[in-house]
Amino acid sequence: MQFLAYSLSSLPFLYPLQQSSRSSATTSFYLDDATKMAILIIVFSAGFIALLYLMKKTSAKKTKYLTSVDTQRLPGEGAHVGRIAEQSLSAYLPFDKLTMHSLVAGATGSGKTVAAQVVAEEALLNKVSILVFDPTAQWTGFLRKQAISDMLKRYARFGLQKSDARAFDGNIYLVENSETFQINVKKYMMPGEINVFVLNRLKPQEMEIIVTRVIKAVFEANLEEYRGLRLLIVFDEVHRLLPKFGGTGEGFKQIERAVREFRKWGVGMVLVSQVLSDFVGEIKANIGTEMQFRTKYEQDLERIRYKFGPESLLGVVKANVGTGLMHNSEYNNGNPYFVEFRPLLHNVVRLSDKELDTYKRYNDRIVALEQRIEKMKEDGNDVFDLNLELNLAKDKMKKGAFNIVDIYLESLEGKTA
Ligand SMILES: Nc1ncnc2c1ncn2[C@@H]1O[C@H](COP(=O)(O)OP(=O)(O)O)[C@@H](O)[C@H]1O
Ligand SMILES: [Mg+2]
Repeated sequence: MQFLAYSLSSLPFLYPLQQSSRSSATTSFYLDDATKMAILIIVFSAGFIALLYLMKKTSAKKTKYLTSVDTQRLPGEGAHVGRIAEQSLSAYLPFDKLTMHSLVAGATGSGKTVAAQVVAEEALLNKVSILVFDPTAQWTGFLRKQAISDMLKRYARFGLQKSDARAFDGNIYLVENSETFQINVKKYMMPGEINVFVLNRLKPQEMEIIVTRVIKAVFEANLEEYRGLRLLIVFDEVHRLLPKFGGTGEGFKQIERAVREFRKWGVGMVLVSQVLSDFVGEIKANIGTEMQFRTKYEQDLERIRYKFGPESLLGVVKANVGTGLMHNSEYNNGNPYFVEFRPLLHNVVRLSDKELDTYKRYNDRIVALEQRIEKMKEDGNDVFDLNLELNLAKDKMKKGAFNIVDIYLESLEGKTA
């Protein structure tokens, strides 16, 4: 009390009052300690109310995503996927959690594919191999660096420099016939590289054949057990396997097997779908991370309301493109929270049909050469140098350097003719 009264006597705005009280002891302007206290309380209360008002005003913009975030219970390392929405905090997803598989759901244009691509970029930077089955051809931009100004403008917000834009190594395979599609998974397990199988020329039902063969191929690959993530398999537009989109159920049966078994080999799956509720319980139960983007699909909205509550529901209905509700039972005390995904380092613009054909032409030539070299080897020829040259061609293919690939291939075709 005495301390407060002392502090008060040193406050400049009360100085004139105190002066007058000192200069004339006969006037009634003397302030006793109780009055000083009262003034102090009024001043502080007014300050407090003003502060509350200011806080309310500044947070008025932050009312879209009301889910509670316990910053102590969020992952602090792993894939740097963006920011916790409406907070100045980075959002991470640990790589080993990706072996428990992820499901990205939301309406068309809500930001699902970009979010899955952000996860893929982070995994590539962490030397994971990536295989993508892409019915939209949207993943074909991975081999070129970002050049779209709308994306580049958002870099600073996520602590990225424009010089961080980059291309990734890999290859693009145009699948034109599901019946002849075969895959040797081990052949495509190249750390830090992405192999995209473009399915946009197939009929929607053919996707099921591809998914089934890929999953069987992983089971047959005889992979060694592995702790952590070494291969990420992405199936985009996977709702096409659902019966109501024309699927027979076989694709989903395989996915159910995959989500149960793949993790022991260090293989994670990212399933991207317009809807989520329709996935059978067995699949949902084996998915570690769910990312729900804006949707109007009633069953999914009802599930969010029932499972996570009205704040989550409201956020999902109003979410901006690129912001999604992230849920992994191990984080944020099991509660979901909104994440604003970062812009992409690689180019969002897909390759044109002509460019896809070019990839196909060169890949077909490489396959033909592989077969010829194998045949020569069986006939007792020394093929060491031929294989060396072929590997150089394949390396240049990863960078899309077709002019140089052409030189190698022409030379090899001459030597193996
Ligand atoms: N995180 C993001 N940062 C910047 N732009 C984004 C982001 N997510 C989505 N977009 C924009 O929205 C468009 C649609 O996103 P996309 O992921 O293709 O939607 P979906 O797969 O849900 O149909 C993208 O082409 C891009 O322009
Ligand atoms: Mg998409």
